Amino acid sequence: MPFPTERPRRLRRTPAIRRLVAQTRLHPADLVLPMFVKESLTQPQALQSMPGVVQHTRDSLKAAAVEAVAAGVGGLMIFGIPTERDAVGSAATEPDGILNLALADLAAEVGGDTVLMADLCLDEFTDHGHCGVLRADGAVDNDATLQRYRDMAVAQSAAGADLVGTSGMMDGQVGAVRAALDAVGATDTGVFAYGAKYASAFYGPFREAVDSALVGDRRSYQQDPANRTEARREVALDIAEGADLVMVKPAMSYLDILADIAGDPAVTVPVAAYQISGEYAMIEAAAANGWIDRDRAVFESLTSIKRAGAQIVLTYWAVEVAQRLRGGQ
Ligand code: PBG
Repeated sequence: MPFPTERPRRLRRTPAIRRLVAQTRLHPADLVLPMFVKESLTQPQALQSMPGVVQHTRDSLKAAAVEAVAAGVGGLMIFGIPTERDAVGSAATEPDGILNLALADLAAEVGGDTVLMADLCLDEFTDHGHCGVLRADGAVDNDATLQRYRDMAVAQSAAGADLVGTSGMMDGQVGAVRAALDAVGATDTGVFAYGAKYASAFYGPFREAVDSALVGDRRSYQQDPANRTEARREVALDIAEGADLVMVKPAMSYLDILADIAGDPAVTVPVAAYQISGEYAMIEAAAANGWIDRDRAVFESLTSIKRAGAQIVLTYWAVEVAQRLRGGQ
């Protein structure tokens, strides 16, 4: 017998064999495109820290949504940027607030053909940039924030959101939002819970994307990157409170968390991961310098997130990747 007798390389020899034995595949329908829409813009505004991503006008948002749907992406996650901000984020709950108007636009334009999701959080709407309302001492007031989230969920559902994305990391937010939706008869509107969400430096470029007013950080409500077990607790609470899907965020530095959640037999709802702004920016910046192969890095990063257990991935590359997949790449 020639040595070695075990030759794993046989299964890597040709592209056809590699394709046959690939355990993880990307599919356009598993990808969700996060999109930004800004009030009073007259033309789309490019983001410096996220090349290829823009703040949309209401019209350009509609056109980009049509393109994304045509590319076969599974859904759209919408973020709104108002011109007027105040301490309680009033624009978040007004029917003519930018996010609610944009949701209504999209519901009319592509509603039947995609899954419309809305970021349910106050940070884009508050003048202090925190995800909730503040107490007199400056701390985020959990229970007062829940009331704002309830009203926001009802407004987003009325505007046409299929799923509301609870991303503020307040205790009890999923239960509060679920009850508020049910109370107005919006039993068909689902809750996409950002179950495990960490206080991450990788949200950096998102601050530019939403013109964030935040000074300081979110460490008193988002999770400490040092902790692993806590993610299971957060996700279990969200599911107990009625989450229809759960998400881990960020993705690439938290693949262990994702694997924990996706591999937990008690988690019987779909598991998603959010490849966030900083993850996108890092790869784009390195590629722009010629330091990595951009197209391969994009696919590898997404494949790794799926391999770790995400069924659904939010990514700013959703349309490009969907188009490349359809082109057989
Ligand atoms: C909260 C929210 C944030 C992101 C998504 N929803 C900001 C934060 O939690 O600080 C970040 C997404 C990204 O960085 O791509 N509204």
